[in-house]
Amino acid sequence: MTPPRIALARTPTPLERLDRTSEHLGREVWVKRDDLTGLELTGNKVRKLEWLLAEAKAQGADTIITCGGINSNHARATAIASIKLGLSAHLILRGVDRSPPTGNLLLDRYVGADVELIDQATWNARDTYLPQVAARLSAAGRRPYVIPEGGSNALGSLGYVEAAKELLEQCQALGWTPVAVAHATGSGGTTAGLALGFVGTAVETFGVAVCNDAAYFHARIERIWDEAVERNFIGADTRKAARVTVHEGRQGRGYGLTTPAEMAEHAALAQREGLLVDPVYTGKAFLGMTDGIRSGHFPPGPVVFLHTGGIFELFAFGAEIEAARA
Ligand SMILES: Cc1ncc(COP(=O)(O)O)c(C=O)c1O
Repeated sequence: MTPPRIALARTPTPLERLDRTSEHLGREVWVKRDDLTGLELTGNKVRKLEWLLAEAKAQGADTIITCGGINSNHARATAIASIKLGLSAHLILRGVDRSPPTGNLLLDRYVGADVELIDQATWNARDTYLPQVAARLSAAGRRPYVIPEGGSNALGSLGYVEAAKELLEQCQALGWTPVAVAHATGSGGTTAGLALGFVGTAVETFGVAVCNDAAYFHARIERIWDEAVERNFIGADTRKAARVTVHEGRQGRGYGLTTPAEMAEHAALAQREGLLVDPVYTGKAFLGMTDGIRSGHFPPGPVVFLHTGGIFELFAFGAEIEAARA
């Protein structure tokens, strides 16, 4: 069954060869530019929102509720996409206020999203807290629709089933097949969708954990696949055949945290290639891909780095970037 979809992402996103990185790593490396799904709507979340917001509209919702960290790309993309579709956004963000606001939080406020800051204890109870907020808004006469953390459920992951196909078509037109697609894994939806899209091919879905561990993400991804079967998006055979690798070792100091050594590596990439990665997601993913190449994990052939966006959070790390440059 194919659910409704609203076009939000600028696709197909470009596929570009990273010449100097390929030389530097001794391996053909390409980048799939999902940071170019838009400007204000940059990044992987836009592909998920095409399906999630279509369902919200079909259900007659007027307010979108979602959650994330204070620096959430997903929350910012949800807020802006909702507003573009004439809906209100209620963002539940974990963390302390930034004064003055910067990065995604600045944009959340700029577009008039309703921002509710919560502490770690409330975050830990988010699965029950989000429905409570929805009930509160319903009682006040709104028609809320809840999108889970990261847009990572079966419906959202359809965006990456499609993206996998888009990438395969691009590679086919160029006359090669990637051995792996490396990318950041933060809530699992991108990885889950890609893996479904690559069923029946030899392409490895290589997710790099930016927090937690491989067992945590495997469990999340399995849940998304189960839901995809329950909702009839895929057959049981596809679910059975889906495979992912979750690479550990690049979580560093934890979610949203960085180190001078990591920042120096991201700066080296920016200066070598003109490719900008952020410290929360794509920077860690790029380093994870580098680990895979250097350790001989991948069979011979081109590796694709899926750039999932995150540019606005770079501006929240000004001090760290300056320190890495010094
Ligand atoms: C820039 C960026 N890359 C990657 C991810 C990870 O994607 P997913 O949540 O689908 O695992 C996120 C999620 O928040 C993100 O914002």
